[in-house]
Amino acid sequence: MASLTIRKLDDAIRDELRLRAARNGRSVEDEVRVILREASQHRPPPAVSATPEVSRVRSDADAGLPRVTLIIGGGIAAYKALDLIRRLKERHVHVRCVLTRAAQQFVTPLSASALSNERCYTDLFDPESEFDAGHIRLARDCELIVVAPATADLMAKMAQGHADDLASAILLAANRPILLAPAMNPLMWNHAATRRNVAQLERDGVAMIGPNAGEMAEAGEAGVGRMAEPLEIAATAERLLRPPQPRPLAGKRILITAGPTHEPIDPVRYIANRSSGKQGFAIAIAAQAAGADVTLISGPVDLDDPAGVTVKHVESAREMLHRVEAALPVDIAICAAAVADWRVANEGEQKLKKTSAGMPPLQLVENPDILATISKLPDKRPRLVIGFAAETENLIDNAKAKLARKGCDWIVANDVSPASGVMGGDRNTVHLLTRDDGDTGVDIRIESWPVMTKEQVATELVADPRPRAARAGAHRSYDCATTGLRGADPSALRPRIEARCHRAELAGHG
Ligand SMILES: Cc1cc2nc3c(=O)[nH]c(=O)nc-3n(C[C@H](O)[C@H](O)[C@H](O)COP(=O)(O)O)c2cc1C
Repeated sequence: MASLTIRKLDDAIRDELRLRAARNGRSVEDEVRVILREASQHRPPPAVSATPEVSRVRSDADAGLPRVTLIIGGGIAAYKALDLIRRLKERHVHVRCVLTRAAQQFVTPLSASALSNERCYTDLFDPESEFDAGHIRLARDCELIVVAPATADLMAKMAQGHADDLASAILLAANRPILLAPAMNPLMWNHAATRRNVAQLERDGVAMIGPNAGEMAEAGEAGVGRMAEPLEIAATAERLLRPPQPRPLAGKRILITAGPTHEPIDPVRYIANRSSGKQGFAIAIAAQAAGADVTLISGPVDLDDPAGVTVKHVESAREMLHRVEAALPVDIAICAAAVADWRVANEGEQKLKKTSAGMPPLQLVENPDILATISKLPDKRPRLVIGFAAETENLIDNAKAKLARKGCDWIVANDVSPASGVMGGDRNTVHLLTRDDGDTGVDIRIESWPVMTKEQVATELVADPRPRAARAGAHRSYDCATTGLRGADPSALRPRIEARCHRAELAGHG
């Protein structure tokens, strides 16, 4: 089948695709799939308006949502601020953007307003918004001001109390909490002037996230200065916006595996699968936010290490098992990695050459089964072991069989057929199969969750202490496979990690 590389599309088409995808809350890949599906059904896709909606009164849907004024500074990382808008909106936060003059060299007000569905502000002396001192409104009509990226220049101005453009005037007029996500070259970050400014801003009560260590946009440079990832900034903003959540997993040690494994054929080739690791990483972030001490063992992925999580990187299934065993004992193990079932027994020590006889035959041998190994440990078995079943057919039946075969407690089953867009995508539709070995036999319950982002799946899986009625938009169907429970109150059937561990503790397991 032909493949499409989105990076290689014309700039204009790519930008339009990104806008459409952002507006519809899908990944770009999912958006392409929708367009192709609609085209194949001879239905024209809905057109994207060339001009974004501007100056809207907050819609009914936005009423009551916490509001963020997002100031985008003029740094390379400004492009990540566009993703931050999405991440905040995903968390049901209303976003209004302000771009500095320099920021407009990196991203356009059009993109920011299209993604936020709001007018974007750029000028202090703008008759349209300043007839009623609009900069004061932008500073006050919100619950939080986020600056991302916070440039060295903007932080210097804040520390000194300048107000000679819209961004700095808002920051000086603010009586709301301010969260900065600094981003700059490591030499700028470590400069004595920036150190003084950072110390002053901290004394002024300004909150900061990052910068993180890593490679810089400038070739060959690395160090502390990369802006925190949009997901981290959004999570921090959410913590500042919403009252502190209980930390139901405080004191628990959780081991999570994520991503694919690479099984070498020779020194340059390997067998792999399409797992992106996004779901496992999202669970690690959610578990860490719920107070757990998280170790994440990841196969090769293109994701940044989540803050506050111990991450071990591995390549092959055998390395992954080795790391898993070294991380034990833990309270909970969540095996989200797509571990290769087989590896090459006759791995070439040198690069395999083409021969006239054709390709040398690959002999495959079974890899260790990490989920089954953990589930059947005689002494160090975690109290709760959760596996993932990625299936392309007979999802529930295969997941039930896997639950029994592997000996784990829960299985998160998801359809990974190409049409689902789950592998590599940002959304997931899962079924949670939970197993309880009671006096009257094995009790398997199945919860079918609606389509959610992988972050939402992670949050739901890890802990959701709010009463079910308080969770907007949570529609689940419950198919209780045990006769005695069919028709029972679904909220009573919501086993959560915390509850399950508590029960296991009472029963003296693990
Ligand atoms: C290509 C380029 C990249 C830049 N990246 C950054 C950056 O990451 N961080 C930073 O503090 N300044 C960076 N600058 C410098 C800022 O753009 C400059 O200090 C500007 O005055 C900041 O304005 P603002 O703080 O009002 O947005 C960069 C400049 C250029 C030309």
